[in-house]
Amino acid sequence: MSELAIIRDGGMLIRDGAIEMVASSDHIAKNSPGAEIVDVGGRVVLPGFVDAHTHPVFAGNRLNDFERRARGESYEQIASAGGGIWSTVEKTRAATSEELLIEAQKHVGWFLRCGTTTIEAKSGYGLTVEDELKILRVLRRLSEQTPLEIAPTLLGAHAVPRDMNAHEYTDLVINEMLPRVSHEKLAEFCDVFCERGYFDVQQSRKIFTAAKDCGLQLRGHVDQLSNSGGAKLMAELRARTADHLEKTDEDGIAAMKSAGVQPVLLPASVYALGLSDYPRAREMIQGGLGVVIATDFNPGSSPTPSMPMILSLACTQMKMSPEEAVTAATINAACSLNRANNIGSLEQGKLANFAIFDCEDYRELAYWFGMPQIHSVYVRGERVV
Ligand code: NIG
Ligand code: FE
Repeated sequence: MSELAIIRDGGMLIRDGAIEMVASSDHIAKNSPGAEIVDVGGRVVLPGFVDAHTHPVFAGNRLNDFERRARGESYEQIASAGGGIWSTVEKTRAATSEELLIEAQKHVGWFLRCGTTTIEAKSGYGLTVEDELKILRVLRRLSEQTPLEIAPTLLGAHAVPRDMNAHEYTDLVINEMLPRVSHEKLAEFCDVFCERGYFDVQQSRKIFTAAKDCGLQLRGHVDQLSNSGGAKLMAELRARTADHLEKTDEDGIAAMKSAGVQPVLLPASVYALGLSDYPRAREMIQGGLGVVIATDFNPGSSPTPSMPMILSLACTQMKMSPEEAVTAATINAACSLNRANNIGSLEQGKLANFAIFDCEDYRELAYWFGMPQIHSVYVRGERVV
């Protein structure tokens, strides 16, 4: 994760949206007569960020939660007092597909302007079969209509709806939601919020097992607010990723290692909730895990689309090096989405998805924080920002 293979005075030859050659600018200029030359003036060029954990389709905002938290209430207190995920579910159910699409297009613009060219995107603010399908169909339209590439995930088990208990809702997800989603091929992954007050380990295991039978791969919100054995569950199920992991201990880390589960760390949710327990990134990297960092973009716990902000938090709060943070935000993230052959690095044969930053050293991305440094962004060789 520490080796970035930087090419000074480097260049790329791009043809038909793909990278045909990566070398020094001189070499490329000599070997590609007639090519249009774009001189980026010594700026930093990186693969477009791959944000492997987001919740971009929702209605409204959570400004009231935000203000209550600033006054000292916790995420769980606010949720039980009528805020939290449920308040976003009510607004999202009431919104039409068109309204959700317009809001989500705004979020797509934000991601692109932060240098992100691929996101994993979860449903989860519908919590009925029809409302979860509505969100996944909005994701499908977004990926058809915008340059951002989207890997969709069903997060039907994000919270228990008010009019059901967790058992009844678990059965609904398994018997009705998963079959519909898999029949319409609306998701590549299935996620569950495994946490006290949401879905326990047994319910999570049932949902995940059914999802696997439907051909979906697994990602899970685990060990965020309490160490409930979620990382171990993801290992047992041979999941693609285990996400959050703020409370995961060394046993959980060892289990993920032996099962090849990639940790997806979301430091902005710790930051935005005003907490101080960041996940144990150093132990995970030292243990040889393919650590990923992502925004967790959502209206409640992490209202940021900015991967540069995540790089800053990774370095300052989780003691990752700038090189490790870049790797975690690009190629490791692409791997977690089964896309390492196409995106996540600037190599011959991959898509020409890249971001250019107004700086001379990639470490500046994590160093100057809270300030946009984007110069331009390209997807499949076309400038989109
Ligand atoms: O990743 N933890 C569960 N889901 C989100 C929060 C969603 C919300 O608060 O709306 C998360 O932190
Ligand atoms: Fe999340």
